[in-house]
Amino acid sequence: TQGAPSAQGGARVLVASNRGPVSYEVGEDGSLRSKRGGGGVVSGLSAIGPDAGALWVCSALSDGDREAVRRGAGEDGVLMLDIPADVHADAYNGIANSVLWFVHHMLYQTPLEPVFDAEFRRRWASYETYNRAFAEALARQAAPGAAVLVQDYHLTLVPGMLRELRPDLRIGHFSHTPWAPAEYFRMLPDDIAGQVLRGMLGADRLGFLTRRWADAFEACRDGFAGGPGATRIGVHGLGADADFLRARAHEPDVEERMAALREEIGSAPDGTARRTVVRVDRTELSKNIVRGLLSYRQLLEDHPEWRERVVHVAFAYPSRQDLAVYRDYTAEVRRVAEEINSAFGTPGWRPVVLHVKDDFARSLAAYRLADVALVNPIRDGMNLVAKEVPVVSDEGCALVLSREAGAFEELGEDAIAVNPYDVVGTAHALHEALSMGPAERADRAKRLVAAATALPPARWFLDQLHALEEGPAGQPA
Ligand code: G6P
Repeated sequence: TQGAPSAQGGARVLVASNRGPVSYEVGEDGSLRSKRGGGGVVSGLSAIGPDAGALWVCSALSDGDREAVRRGAGEDGVLMLDIPADVHADAYNGIANSVLWFVHHMLYQTPLEPVFDAEFRRRWASYETYNRAFAEALARQAAPGAAVLVQDYHLTLVPGMLRELRPDLRIGHFSHTPWAPAEYFRMLPDDIAGQVLRGMLGADRLGFLTRRWADAFEACRDGFAGGPGATRIGVHGLGADADFLRARAHEPDVEERMAALREEIGSAPDGTARRTVVRVDRTELSKNIVRGLLSYRQLLEDHPEWRERVVHVAFAYPSRQDLAVYRDYTAEVRRVAEEINSAFGTPGWRPVVLHVKDDFARSLAAYRLADVALVNPIRDGMNLVAKEVPVVSDEGCALVLSREAGAFEELGEDAIAVNPYDVVGTAHALHEALSMGPAERADRAKRLVAAATALPPARWFLDQLHALEEGPAGQPA
């Protein structure tokens, strides 16, 4: 029956996330091509080794993924769930990315949004179905007493559902996002908020990226359930994977892209290399790319001495383009970048070099060339770019960092802090960063790198796993 422990023994460590470590495309000749993704969980999981009996349960996200499932062509150690496309779309676009993401990042423009109507309830039912599909698959695949690490806001109901199916498991949940303040979280209808909290509290242990998000969760929990309960809460601040990044950033394809980027950046009228302000993001509402551009524009206005001497290298990669508000935001990023270029550009100087086609090698090339990294999200669970650029930059960059990014808790002392809404303040911070003397910059960069690499992905993952395995198993929700 569904949910019964596997007779073959099953997996001893399971990870569950919407987006898995691999994706498939069907080539013109009908063959399947696979592409492996990066990220903290991918490199973290590899740290436990191939013999650990690990299984990653994720969603089929594309036609290629669905075809791979149909052909039974999946990789060992990865189980893709072929959830009906309409159910997945409602759960992923309609609830996870349009509601839960918006709540935790406080993205609503509240005079008109959110509206929790009958359509919302219909989508919520899909979110439940989608979470149940994960819970049932995990219940079938887990060995007795196995550890299950559920990832993120897509799967908040899974711990509670899985606990009912398999009380013997050790269940963890990790949030890669911020958690909303209690006053914001209570915008959700009470029964829905209750489901989210009860779902999460089905876990033995909940992980967050910073103390701030863990505290926010506790405040929401206390408001609803009225007591601390049995679920333990821990903080694991995922760090940059320095060894991997440094090695990858010196591969020939990155060197090639550095040469091309240097061409685009050009040199100042006196022949010296232009300074660079680098940002790399998904084109994500919370990343605050438009205010970043406006701040750069303000810098050029307030400090004409930087004209012709600096270039803003902005990579904004497509994300969640099924949602109209993301498409509009992408268009706005392009529009503002073009506006700056036509207002300030000269025949030999393009003030903003904007690229929108995802290219990891080119991102690393930009990291290496960065004099200043601009990371100004309005709210962010951690923001790994803030940690990665200092590690990879050839000369040791200065970091302009939003105080609303989780990374600020660890890097704040050696970054230049900004209020992400304050365009004039951010312009001033950019000027300060560009003007920093080489000795101070190197000094700060050294400390930034130490803080950014304190908890590399492998240790981040193992810390969570060990903390989950240490406590008493099978806590009642
Ligand atoms: C954030 C979330 C992840 C998500 C990623 C990319 O970092 O915490 O769970 O995978 O964004 O977003 P996407 O919607 O493309 O998976």
